[in-house]
Parts: sequence; structure tokens; C-alpha cells
Amino acid sequence: MSDIYTKKVLNHFRNPRNMGEIKDADGTGTVGNPTCGDVMTIYIKVKDDRIIDIKFKTYGCTAAIASTSIATELVKGKTLDEAMKLTRDDVANELGGLPAIKMHCSNLAADALHEAIKDYRKEKKK
Ligand code: FES
Repeated sequence: MSDIYTKKVLNHFRNPRNMGEIKDADGTGTVGNPTCGDVMTIYIKVKDDRIIDIKFKTYGCTAAIASTSIATELVKGKTLDEAMKLTRDDVANELGGLPAIKMHCSNLAADALHEAIKDYRKEKKK
């Protein structure tokens, strides 16, 4: 495993940041990948249009866990608009690269985050 992943990927896989659940989350996003069957959920707390807390739960692989861990670090404290701009390439670059067959795993992180933000915005409009 250590051959295909960078040290940073393994570090985030072994010590995932912000793993868990926010019970009273302001927004929740869940996405799945039909090919591998992995599922990712992201929870956010929002104040003054900024992500003040973020956590995730996943049944994903090493790359999915590492991607989401680093994605949560990248967007914590950011505005919702800034967080919406986070792409899978940003996530993969920050990890020092991912094998091509593992790029879809970093999609789970970015997509679940975007869904959580959309969920928050939808709730606010009610
Ligand atoms: Fe499915 Fe990585 S193999 S998320």
C-alpha cells in the first residue's frame, strides 16, 4: 500500500482529522460511488456564512478517508462560496497526488461537501 500512496495520504488515513458526526449539523451531504459501493457523509456547522465545524463518516477506502480528512482541514473556517470551489484536484494535489484509479475517491470528499452546503442553503430558505 505504501508504494501507491504518498506519505501524506497514509498520515491522513492513519490519523483522520475531523472524523465523526455532528448531531445538530446545519447541513448534511451523503454521496455514494456506484462502482465501488463506498459511501461518504459530511456534516457542517455554519455561522455567518462560514464553516465553523465539519466532520465526516465513511465506508470508503484509504484514499477516500485521506481525501475527506484533508478536505475538512482545507475548508474549516472558509466561507461557503470558497468551500463550494473545492475540487477533487485540489484535494488530490494537497495530498501530493493520488493514483489515477483512486481519483474517484477524492470526488466523494468534494461531492459530499458540496451536497452538505446545498442542504444548508435549502434549509435556510424554508
Ligand atoms: Fe471507492 Fe475509494 S475505492 S471510494
